[in-house]
Amino acid sequence: MTLSRQSNAASNPGLAAALQSARASYLERNPKSHAAYSKATESLPGGGTRTTLVVDPFPLMIESGKGSEITDVDGHTYKDFLSDYTSGLYGKSNPVLLEAISKALAQGLQFGAHTPHEARFAAGLVARFPSMDLVRFANSGTEANMLALTTALKHTGRSKVVVFDGAYHGSLLCHFHTGDKGMPEGVVRAPFDFVIAPYNDIDGVKALLGPIKADVGAIIVEPMLGAGGCVPAEPQFLRDLRDYSTEIGSVLIFDEVQTSRLSPGGRQALLGITPDMTTVGKFFGGGFAFGAFGGKREIMDMFDIRKPGAISHGGTFNNSPLTMVAGATALEHLLTPEALERLNNLGDHMRDALNAAFKTTNAPFFAKGLGSINQLYCTLPAEDRDAAMEVLFFMLLEKGYWVSQRGTLALNFENSAEEVDGFVAAAVEAAGRVAAAAKSH
Ligand SMILES: Cc1ncc(COP(=O)(O)O)c(C=O)c1O
Repeated sequence: MTLSRQSNAASNPGLAAALQSARASYLERNPKSHAAYSKATESLPGGGTRTTLVVDPFPLMIESGKGSEITDVDGHTYKDFLSDYTSGLYGKSNPVLLEAISKALAQGLQFGAHTPHEARFAAGLVARFPSMDLVRFANSGTEANMLALTTALKHTGRSKVVVFDGAYHGSLLCHFHTGDKGMPEGVVRAPFDFVIAPYNDIDGVKALLGPIKADVGAIIVEPMLGAGGCVPAEPQFLRDLRDYSTEIGSVLIFDEVQTSRLSPGGRQALLGITPDMTTVGKFFGGGFAFGAFGGKREIMDMFDIRKPGAISHGGTFNNSPLTMVAGATALEHLLTPEALERLNNLGDHMRDALNAAFKTTNAPFFAKGLGSINQLYCTLPAEDRDAAMEVLFFMLLEKGYWVSQRGTLALNFENSAEEVDGFVAAAVEAAGRVAAAAKSH
């Protein structure tokens, strides 16, 4: 297996034909995106700089966005049901955010100094997460996780990092799989001493870690596997993991980079489970590059430069004034309990409606997830699933819905109940056509 984007060859001839025709129509509809992509390949290997966005034969180029919609360079407008893989929570043009950012812009860029917004933002974050007595900022979720892991190892003086089957913790902390899936060729991973444990299986975790428990310095877990397919952790699994980590003297880290949008204090607050450290990122940056890691005072105090032996942690843009203002503003004005509850209820409704309609229409798809973060799955034979997902993706684009090829669905605050109903109807109709194509030969 490699990471290169190769055509998904469906073994089902009907699906193969549907895929060919969907790609041809995509090519015809998007000449300007195609040209822009060809130009991009002259200076960017593969024409882009974010592998997640790769589409065969080429990705669309977006020109602008407003509310819940984005418009590509060929003039097509899409309702956004991907929300930048969960980070685009506020839509494209939230007026409160835009006003705060404009004001900050007018005050000047890059002071190479602290601003009051840094502590204001930090205070807002630590007030939300019971596990965060203190917090530090970084530039991405990847960086926050790498810093949290390094901190945990230093705190415990141990070497091993436990991750879970199916986890994604960032560009350098990815493709954790056990069994025959292995690590694809071409993946580069930060050289921590990883142990990959089974998700939602505390007995399996204990059996694996028992013999090496004295070496385990960090256990990092997503309260729901995000990129791994929106697989929620069983609450009891997380509780047991909490207890086991304490028992073996490890630092338990919740990666809430995605799940922090499930409630004001993330999934940990919903479940009443307090890890030792928490990482967040994505939408907390108010639209800018962001990551943060925080935890118990005794752990985070290692960064207190007033104390002997403190850890040095630089980062030119750690406290970028624009990010600090945008993040603090979003936290104080937009990430309200009511707004998050509305959106997560809408996501639950969408998932239920999709599943009910897929069932009634016998479409070979289902949706899985929690609240506003969901994933579409195909139930056709394994060798045809990728092609079926791809056909569905192209059909939804043609219907004006922005989704991901791998089936990720994430809502944003601008999505209305009517839009969700429209999306459900479109997805069910497209799923029916995919099923018909699969049966046609
Ligand atoms: C759970 C989780 N952790 C970490 C990351 C990495 O964040 P970033 O892409 O900002 O580095 C992601 C990104 O998708 C994520 O979903």
